[in-house]
Amino acid sequence: MESAKLFIFAILVVSALGGIVPHRAVVPINDGKYLLETRVTLTGILTVKVTAESTGWLGWGISPTGEMAGSDMIIGGFNADTGEAYIGDRFSSGHGLPALDTIQNVELISASENATHTVLEFSRAVDTGDVEQDLKVENAVQYIVWAAGETDDLAYHGQVNRGAIELNLMDG
Ligand code: HEM
Repeated sequence: MESAKLFIFAILVVSALGGIVPHRAVVPINDGKYLLETRVTLTGILTVKVTAESTGWLGWGISPTGEMAGSDMIIGGFNADTGEAYIGDRFSSGHGLPALDTIQNVELISASENATHTVLEFSRAVDTGDVEQDLKVENAVQYIVWAAGETDDLAYHGQVNRGAIELNLMDG
């Protein structure tokens, strides 16, 4: 009888833990002005949520070197003038506006903003199959590039609101 109770207790503990484990902790970037949350599902979908101190465009990408050139990027945001959320799957060939990919492999989940911050959430496949203009999410540490614009015009981010971190997107 006692061991049966213990068994049920153990099951409850394990299932409770199972409910809280899947989300990775928030990664604070740029002194917390760019907060990154990511998750990879077992079916191979990456979900990214960015909360940034900006009412302009937000950029996120996977980079081979930590620099713009060769990076698989998205630029998205919420344009208060038009009342519309926007996102685009892009590829960077160097310093300048990354061009839109021929094949768009990003799904906008939501974008919104208040007077100071934008929240942008999107998903994409870990392996989109677009070998020309997308990079795969690997089970390894990769460079993640990030940037934030001053406005929704896709112009230069300036020297402070951009950078690169190293992260294993599958690890967490
Ligand atoms: C919107 C159009 C964009 C323009 C016109 C632009 C332009 C530039 C320029 C001129 C530089 C060199 C000066 C500097 O170091 O600040 C640079 C650097 C950089 N940008 Fe951009 N950029 C754009 C979008 C993006 C996006 C979307 C990201 C990230 C998702 C990004 C990430 C970076 C990073 C990490 C650097 C420093 C490393 C490097 O030199 O490549 N940029 N950008």
